[in-house]
Amino acid sequence: MVSPHSTRPAIGIDFGTTNSSIARTLPDGGIELVSFPTTTATTESFRSILYLEQHKQAGRNQVKSFTGPAGIDHYLEAEHKGRLIQSLKSYLSSRNLTGTEVFGRRYAMEDLISRILTDLRLHAERQFGQPVRHATVGRPVRFVGSDNTDNDDFALDRLRQAFLHSGFESVDFEMEPIAAAYSYESTLDHDELILIGDFGGGTSDFSLLHVGPGVRARGRTAKDLLGNSGLGLAGDTFDARIVRKLVSPALGADSLARSLNKLLPAVPAWIYANLERWHYLSFLKTRNVSQILKSAHANALEPEKIEALINLIDEDLGYQLHQAVQRLKVELSHHESARFYFRDGSMNIQSVVTREEFESWIGEDLESIEQCVDDLLTTSGVAAQTIDRVFLTGGTSFVPSVRRIFESRFTASRVRTGDEFTSVARGLALRDQEAWLKRS
Ligand SMILES: Nc1ncnc2c1ncn2[C@@H]1O[C@H](COP(=O)(O)OP(=O)(O)OP(=O)(O)O)[C@@H](O)[C@H]1O
Ligand SMILES: [Mg+2]
Repeated sequence: MVSPHSTRPAIGIDFGTTNSSIARTLPDGGIELVSFPTTTATTESFRSILYLEQHKQAGRNQVKSFTGPAGIDHYLEAEHKGRLIQSLKSYLSSRNLTGTEVFGRRYAMEDLISRILTDLRLHAERQFGQPVRHATVGRPVRFVGSDNTDNDDFALDRLRQAFLHSGFESVDFEMEPIAAAYSYESTLDHDELILIGDFGGGTSDFSLLHVGPGVRARGRTAKDLLGNSGLGLAGDTFDARIVRKLVSPALGADSLARSLNKLLPAVPAWIYANLERWHYLSFLKTRNVSQILKSAHANALEPEKIEALINLIDEDLGYQLHQAVQRLKVELSHHESARFYFRDGSMNIQSVVTREEFESWIGEDLESIEQCVDDLLTTSGVAAQTIDRVFLTGGTSFVPSVRRIFESRFTASRVRTGDEFTSVARGLALRDQEAWLKRS
């Protein structure tokens, strides 16, 4: 038998909407994750963030980019903020959003994403001590913003192009929940029929499949996979609900302005819609929006709220807002109530939120998730009681009401959780190894 390490290591890359991670298989059967340095420690999940800054060099303007923890540090230290872009993966399915203008220059989305992927590759090469030119890469079942397989294929092709622009010679894709299943399978000493639920920042993905040492030994067949399903809704959508309920009203979403003899909304609703979506937020820093807000400020009945909105956009406070929202969500995963606070200059938003309130804000989203799970069971013809285990992973699986969906359908004793931020990368490395062994 060919040793799995005789020609190249098996590598899995999870490019996530919020966090990315990289894993490789080891000769002893273990998994090694790439550690990324931060100012205070190291982390195995690299924030999928891009920060662009303009510098003058030899009299010419140059744009420098920073990613992950370094991107956050440069952004926080900068006196004059550049452009911080979050949740870049969520742009991939959008056919009319091929690029964006930064400092007067147009950048293709693939180019922006490839800056993150290049840095991920370089971190991996440094730690592994060898070139990384091939990997198995995760993909959601359904990309954010997509409602059919054509759009998913379009998004996947853009993701492939971004990898090829980042120094990779080839990539294989695998569904993210199937990757999580490979990771879960590595802990089993018997076969199981499992349902995987992977709840990330952008997407919620499900797979129903047979796994285990017996399945591996006899060789997997197409029949082992009973079905996949997914929806472009997860942690970022929950964040959007929090912004809509707590933040936008304090920034004038319900405010009126005098126009001739009428009272009209001070600021167009689309501006708040962009504020709710991390991947659209940085688009608000344009001359057009600035002019709209200036005139809204002049006519608004509550100009101080519009001023706070102007400040948030001018100062590019999307990251701080994301942090405040994330803090609230994490607290509410562990406590019955939590305090939301977001302060900057003229803005001071403070509010106590109960878990029950939060659950009512995301009620529709929870229903969509339930529907997606039920549809998967129906289309695959599997009854809930025949499923041996449910494995929930991804950061949003910490949300108690998300877990409850599965506990009520499958009973709490059949639900397992774990490796929330690394199971997909681990499983992708195992998948990469298996595919390579099969080919050799
Ligand atoms: N304790 C927690 N409670 C609730 N939500 C959390 C918690 N920890 C992290 N999250 C949320 O989990 C999400 C990130 O999870 P994860 O890193 O699994 O996503 P991702 O892999 O980057 O995204 P995707 O798989 O959709 O591309 C964010 O929305 C974050 O706010
Ligand atoms: Mg993920």
